[in-house]
Amino acid sequence: MVQLGPQALEACWSLDQAALGGFWSRPQWQQELEQDRRPCLGIWRGEDLLALACGWLVADELHITAVATHPEQRRQGLGRRVLGALLSHAAAEGAQHATLEVAAGNQAAQALYAAAGFRTAGVRRGYYRSGEDALIQWMRLDRGADPSQSPGGSAAT
Ligand SMILES: CC(C)(COP(=O)(O)OP(=O)(O)OC[C@H]1O[C@@H](n2cnc3c(N)ncnc32)[C@H](O)[C@@H]1OP(=O)(O)O)[C@@H](O)C(=O)NCCC(=O)NCCS
Repeated sequence: MVQLGPQALEACWSLDQAALGGFWSRPQWQQELEQDRRPCLGIWRGEDLLALACGWLVADELHITAVATHPEQRRQGLGRRVLGALLSHAAAEGAQHATLEVAAGNQAAQALYAAAGFRTAGVRRGYYRSGEDALIQWMRLDRGADPSQSPGGSAAT
C-alpha cells in the first residue's frame, strides 16, 4: 500500500479509464495527486496499479472521491484493502467520519462500503448526469482502529 503522488499520474489516469470510465481528466488527476489534504492510496504489482482509493480531508471529515479496482483484478480483496487503508489514514489525520456518494444501481460498490462499515444516510435524487440517484454513505471513524482489519467493526449506529 503506498501513497500515490504526481509520479503516479499516468497509472491513475489509466486505471480511472479502465475502472471508472474516465471520472477525472489528466489535469484533474494531477491536482488530486499534488495537493495536501487529498490522500490517494494505491496497490501496485510491479508497474501496474491494481487499485486506488482517494479522498479529501475537509475539517473533520474524509470525503471519498474515488475507489477503483482494475476490472481484471476484482473480488480479490483489493478494494477492501485500499479503502480500509484510506480510512485508517484519514483517522490518523484526525478525521472523525467518512462520507461518499454511490450510484443507487452500483451493487458492487454498495456491498464493499457496507462491508467496510458504511451506512446509507440519505438519497440525492437525480445526482448523476444520467438521472440516477446517489446514496449518501456515512461512517464514524474510530481513531486508532484499522477498518481494513475489522469490516463493519468501527461503524456508527
Ligand atoms: C467497487 C469495487 C472498487 C470493488 O473492488 P474489489 O477489489 O472487487 O472489491 P473486494 O474484492 O475488495 O470486495 C470486498 C467486498 O465488497 C463486496 N463486493 C465487491 N464486489 C462485489 C460484487 N460485484 N457484487 C457483490 N459484492 C461485491 C463483497 O462484500 C466483497 O467481499 P467478498 O469478496 O468477501 O464477498 C470495484 O468493483 C470497482 O472498481 N468498480 C468500478 C468502480 C466503482 O464503482 N467505484 C466505486 C464508485 S462509488
